[in-house]
Amino acid sequence: MARNSVAGVVRPEWTLVRGRRATGGAFSWETGSCSRLRGDRWFAAEPSGGWDLHVPGSLGTLTRSMSLRDLETAPSTEGIAREARRLLLLLRPEERGALETSLRDDMVTEYDARFLVDYLESLDVAFSPAFRENLQRWYRDEVRHFGSFRGIFEACFGDAAPLLAARRPDFAEVEHLFGGEFEILCLLAYDELATLRGYRGNLPLYDRLGGGLGAFVRRVIGDEAGHYAGFRALLIENHADRLGEVDRVVERIRAAEGAPYRATFVLDHDDPVYGDHIFDDAARVLTTQIQRERTRLGA
Ligand SMILES: [Fe+2]
Ligand SMILES: [Fe+2]
Repeated sequence: MARNSVAGVVRPEWTLVRGRRATGGAFSWETGSCSRLRGDRWFAAEPSGGWDLHVPGSLGTLTRSMSLRDLETAPSTEGIAREARRLLLLLRPEERGALETSLRDDMVTEYDARFLVDYLESLDVAFSPAFRENLQRWYRDEVRHFGSFRGIFEACFGDAAPLLAARRPDFAEVEHLFGGEFEILCLLAYDELATLRGYRGNLPLYDRLGGGLGAFVRRVIGDEAGHYAGFRALLIENHADRLGEVDRVVERIRAAEGAPYRATFVLDHDDPVYGDHIFDDAARVLTTQIQRERTRLGA
């Protein structure tokens, strides 16, 4: 069902989320109809098997990886933040400090996605339509991640506006990694892989602030894995003739790790959870998977 067909019941401040049809949810629909769920969330099924979900703006912890069951039960950002703030008071000062650092780092990096989009637009690169479509999907997710991290950070540590206003991107240290669509896809795929490992490494820390936050970060990890898979698929589909160069390109990316992070979204690996083990692993997984694909293609 098209968005217009539910326009009469969707309030302007609500969020529209589009996704593939999820399985395993307790909620069911009939194609082309729309149903009301628990009074405040609307689903509209599309004939293609996709779905639109309309939710009040306050339900800000949506991620692409949510199943319908998650959607029914997900607490709002406010609910997660309330629980996090309460539990924070029970922690030792050093744990509180570690959480402030990680939540702040994750919030600002997700925020910095906008600078990367601007930078990509400024490059003299003719991106393919598939790349642009992928990037748009990716960006919507990162904006959503940012919104939730901001709500949680502010509930625990106060106003984030000054922090965000002070962001100044500087791509000078990494611009040599942005040759063309092929090199950029290698960079984005590598970066998403390293990021999801960073989030995974911080799970024990985030779990200290309650099940709501822990579940949210796990869904973010699912989104980052989806981003990685999307960029890798584009590499294979759009650049099959250059897959033999991936090892060399990834080597250059890996060598660029370690420079101070300057709001570029990519290679934000200042958080103490990162280290050579994560960088080496991300490089190895990406190159191994691409080489496996090359073998399959007989390239
Ligand atoms: Fe993200
Ligand atoms: Fe991502």
